[in-house]
Amino acid sequence: MLDLTPDRGSLDPIEIASRDEIQALQLSRLKWSLAHAYENVGHYRRAFDEAGVHPGDLKTLADLARFPFTAKDDLRQNYPFGMFAVPREQVSRVHASSGTTGKPTVVGYTAEDIGVWSDLMARSIRASGGRPGHIVHVAYGYGLFTGGLGAHYGAERLGCTVVPVSGGMTERQVQLIQDFRPDIIMVTPSYMLAILDAFRAQGADPAQTSLKVGIFGAEPWTESVRQEVQAAFDMHAVDIYGLSEVMGPGVANECVETKDGLHIWEDHFYPEIVDPATGEVLPDGEMGELVFTSLTKQAMPVVRYRTRDLTRLLPGTARSLRRMEKITGRSDDMIILRGVNVFPTQIEELVLAIDGLSPHYLIELTREGRMDSMKVVVEARAGAAGSDARRAAAERLSAQVKDRIGISVAVAVEEPGTVERSMGKAKRVVDLRPRG
Ligand code: DLL
Repeated sequence: MLDLTPDRGSLDPIEIASRDEIQALQLSRLKWSLAHAYENVGHYRRAFDEAGVHPGDLKTLADLARFPFTAKDDLRQNYPFGMFAVPREQVSRVHASSGTTGKPTVVGYTAEDIGVWSDLMARSIRASGGRPGHIVHVAYGYGLFTGGLGAHYGAERLGCTVVPVSGGMTERQVQLIQDFRPDIIMVTPSYMLAILDAFRAQGADPAQTSLKVGIFGAEPWTESVRQEVQAAFDMHAVDIYGLSEVMGPGVANECVETKDGLHIWEDHFYPEIVDPATGEVLPDGEMGELVFTSLTKQAMPVVRYRTRDLTRLLPGTARSLRRMEKITGRSDDMIILRGVNVFPTQIEELVLAIDGLSPHYLIELTREGRMDSMKVVVEARAGAAGSDARRAAAERLSAQVKDRIGISVAVAVEEPGTVERSMGKAKRVVDLRPRG
C-alpha cells in the first residue's frame, strides 16, 4: 500500500500544537459556547438554572463536570427547531436522524457552521490520505442523513473532484469505480463489503481498481473487516466517526500513517468519558461513554451530549489532538444474554476468524419461556458453500462463541447471497423477543 502520510506543512497548525495551546483555545471557546447556549436556548437556560450553575462558573476545563448532560430525548422534546440558538432564518441547512422509535432528531447549521464542518471533513480526508486533485467517490447516503453531504462538502473543500453517487445500485457503483478511477471511496464499511461482493460477482479483480483509501464510518466495524477490505482492494481502510447531534461525520478520524484510533478534532469538540451508570467523569484511558460539548457551533450548540458510544480517550500520536479508541459498540447495542454482555462486533471478530465464513451476518434474539436465545445467521464464503463445509463452520463458530464469550448460541451457515445487504448502516441484530 502507498505511503500517504501528509506533509506536515499541509496540516492545520492546531493539529500539531502543544497541549497547552490546545487547552487554552478549548477553554476560551468553551466559555463562549456555554454562554451562547444559555442565552439563546430555553432548554439550556432551564437545565443550567435547575442544576444551579451559570456559564460564568466555568473557570477551568474540569469545571464542565458541574454542568448538566444533554440526551437525545432532550432534542426530541424540543422537536423540531427548539434547540436552535439562532433565529430560524439564519439556519442554512437542517439534517435529521431517523432513530428507530419516535420522532427524528433535527439538527441545524448556519452558513458558518457548514464552513467549519467542511473544513473538518477536509482535515479528516487529508488525515486519511486524501489530497487536492484526488477523485472521491461518495457512496454515503445523500439526504437528511449527514454522511453524503458531509463527505461531499469536505472533499470539495480539500480541492478534490467529487463523484456524488450516494448509496444503492451496487452494480453501478462497481461500474463507476472502474470507469472514473477514483482515488478514494467514502462509504459505510458494511456497504463496502457489498460492493466487494459485486466486484467478485462480475469477475472483476478488486485489487486492480484505482482506489487508494476507503474512509469508513457511521457504524462499528472491526479490525478483521479492515484487514479483509485492505487485502481485497489493496488500499488503506481508515475509520471516520461522527454523529448528527454533534455535527455529522468528521468529529474524529484516524490518521492513515498510524491507524491507531481516531484523533478527535478537539479544537471544535470537547470530549469527556463518563461512567454510563453514574455520570461521573473518568480519567483518560478508562472505558466509558463518550460525551461531547461543541466549542464553536452557532445554530445548535450541544452541552455534554451523551453519545451512548463506548470508548476511551488516549494521548495523541500522529497529531497532538487526543485519540478515541475505535468504537466497538454503543450501550444501546449491548445484548445481555443470560447475564453475559455481548456486542455484535465481538461476534463479527469470531466469524471472520473462521476461513469459510463471510462478513455477512445477522444476530437473532428470541425468547422461549423466560430464556433468551441467540442465533447467528452467517453466510458461507463462495468456496466453502457445500453442506458439509457449512456444517463444520457452524460447529466451529458455536464452539468459539462458547469458548471466548461464554454463551451458547445456535449458528446457521447459509449459502452466499442469502443475508440481506445494507446500503447504509447495517442492521446486525433482529430482536424477536416480546417487548416489555
Ligand atoms: O453516522 C455520521 C457519520 C456519517 C459518521 C458518515 C461517519 C461517516 P448518525 O446517523 O447521527 O451520524 O449516527 C451516529 O453512528 O453515535 C455511533 O454510534 C455510530 N458511528 C458513527 N461513526 C462510527 C464509527 C453518522 N466510525 C452514530 N464507528 C454514532 C462506530 C460509529 N460507530
